[in-house]
Amino acid sequence: MLLGCKDEKKTDMPETTQAKTKSSIVKSDYATTKEGVKIEKYTLTNANGMKMEVITMGGDIISLTAPDKDGKFEDVVLGYTTPDLYLDGNPYFFGAIIGRYGNRIAKGKFTLDGKPYQLTVNDGPNSLHGGKGFDKRVWTATPVEGDAPALKLTYTAKDGEEGYPGKLNVTVTYVLSNDNALEISYEAESDKNTVVNLTQHSYFNLSGNFAESIESQELELKAGKYLPVDATLIPTGELKAVAGTPFDFTKAKAIGKDINVADDQLKKGLGYDHCWIFDDAANTLKSVGSLYHKASGRYMEVLTTEPAIQFYSGNFIDGTKDSKTGGKYQKRSGLCLETQHYPDSPNQPSFPITTLKAGEKYSTKTTYKFSVK
Ligand code: BGC
Repeated sequence: MLLGCKDEKKTDMPETTQAKTKSSIVKSDYATTKEGVKIEKYTLTNANGMKMEVITMGGDIISLTAPDKDGKFEDVVLGYTTPDLYLDGNPYFFGAIIGRYGNRIAKGKFTLDGKPYQLTVNDGPNSLHGGKGFDKRVWTATPVEGDAPALKLTYTAKDGEEGYPGKLNVTVTYVLSNDNALEISYEAESDKNTVVNLTQHSYFNLSGNFAESIESQELELKAGKYLPVDATLIPTGELKAVAGTPFDFTKAKAIGKDINVADDQLKKGLGYDHCWIFDDAANTLKSVGSLYHKASGRYMEVLTTEPAIQFYSGNFIDGTKDSKTGGKYQKRSGLCLETQHYPDSPNQPSFPITTLKAGEKYSTKTTYKFSVK
C-alpha cells in the first residue's frame, strides 16, 4: 500500500539539482509472530532514492541503502536474511530500538527515591538493554506527512515491566531526509519517576559488503574521555583520557589500527565496547563524529543531543548467522554507534542523571547523515 508520496521535482530548480525520484512510504505485511501478532514492514524512500525498511517488531531497521561515490546504492546496515530471527529475540539487537535503559545496569539493581528495584538480569550478572526490552516488543507505526518520508513508532511499557517503575509512553520517529540523513527523535513520558536511556542499535558497514571487516573504516569521535569497564563491562566510574591510548579517535583513525594492541580494556571488551564522553556536553544537536569507508567514498556523520556514545565493534558476532551479502556474519562485520547517556548511571552518582520524573518529557535526537568524499 502506498501511503504517502511527494513529488520532489521543483520546476524552479535547475535540472542538475532536481531530485530523481518521488519520496514515498509503503506499508506491507512482513511476518506473523508465534503468538499470531502481525508484524508490518514500512519501506521509506527519499527523493534521492535512498531506501530504508523498518518493521514494527522492535522498530528494527532491517535495511538502509546509501550511495557510494559513483552513485551506487548499497545496504549499509546488517540484518538477518529471514524474519524468524527478528521475531524470535533478535540475538544481536540488529537495527533495534533499545530501551528502557540502553546498555548495562550493574546486577540489574538500582535505588530510586529510596526504593530498591530489581530488573531482569540477562547478561552475566547484569541487565543489558532493558531485559526483555523495547527491541523485543511490537510497536505501533504511523506514517507522518511531510517533505521526506517519516515513520512514527509508539510503544507503552507497563509499570513494573522488566522491573522498571512507571508506565512509560515512548515515541520514536525515523525521518529519511532528502539530504540523505536518518534523523531519529526519541520521546518518552512516565507516570512515575523512572530511569530512561534510549538508543538505536543499527550495525553499520559502509562498504555495503558485509564480508568485509569494518576494521579498515575510519572512525572519528569528538571525545577526549571514555569509561573504562570492569570484567562484566560495567563502567568503573573513572573518566579516562583517551590521549596516548588505543581509545583515541579524536582524529579519524582506522578502527583496526589499534584494536589488537595489548590493552587491558580492549581485552575486557574483546575489542571496542565502551562509552565515549563527548567534549561538547551541550544538549543541542551537535556533530560528534563520523565513519568513513575510503574505497566506496561513503561517509557518515553522527550528530546528537546526547552526551555520550557506545562504540561497539561487533565483537560478539559469532559466525552463526547468514549475511545479507552472502556467507555468515563474523566478528567485526558491523559496528554500532549508540548515542546515549552513560551505562549504569542509576548506580553512579558522578554520571549525568538518567532519572525521568513523572510527567516530565524525555526528548533526544540523533542523526546519521550520509554523503561521499
Ligand atoms: C553492548 C555489547 C553487547 C551488544 C549486544 C552493545 O550495545 O555494548 O556489549 O554485546 O550491544 O549486541
